[in-house]
Amino acid sequence: MMRRNDFRARNHPAYWAFLVQRWSGIALAAFLPVHFWALGQALAGEAALDGFLRFTEAPLFKLAEWTLVVLLASHMMGGARLLLIEFGEGSGLRKNWIAGTLGFAAAAGLAFALALVA
Ligand code: HEM
Repeated sequence: MMRRNDFRARNHPAYWAFLVQRWSGIALAAFLPVHFWALGQALAGEAALDGFLRFTEAPLFKLAEWTLVVLLASHMMGGARLLLIEFGEGSGLRKNWIAGTLGFAAAAGLAFALALVA
């Protein structure tokens, strides 16, 4: 019988970094068509776009925007880490970049939250 990997092998910073990269990438890709649809409302006139923009004032929408900012920040820094691993000098998992990604995403999330209340 084929041996199956249990979760201990996956409970590793680089595995979590992979999960974040995959799910943030999928979420960003899912967001784009919705975003283009929203911008496309302008084609139906100013009032149509304004109608949608009022909906974006809802707290739940702000939370979704905040999530998107954090996902994009994570994906961008995590992506830079992967490119460094793939094309950079030397080898290794660059766990310092995982820590840096965490810090960058936290800073971006805090900055966006601050801009919301300021
Ligand atoms: C902000 C700039 C971005 C950078 C630097 C970046 C970089 C990367 C890198 C290096 C990878 C991994 C490729 C590999 O397996 O070697 C990746 C995966 C991916 N990215 Fe991005 N990306 C960016 C923006 C985006 C955006 C805007 C989207 C969505 C529209 C996106 C969607 C994805 C998806 C779906 C994956 C595949 C994840 C997986 O296979 O697990 N990325 N990205």
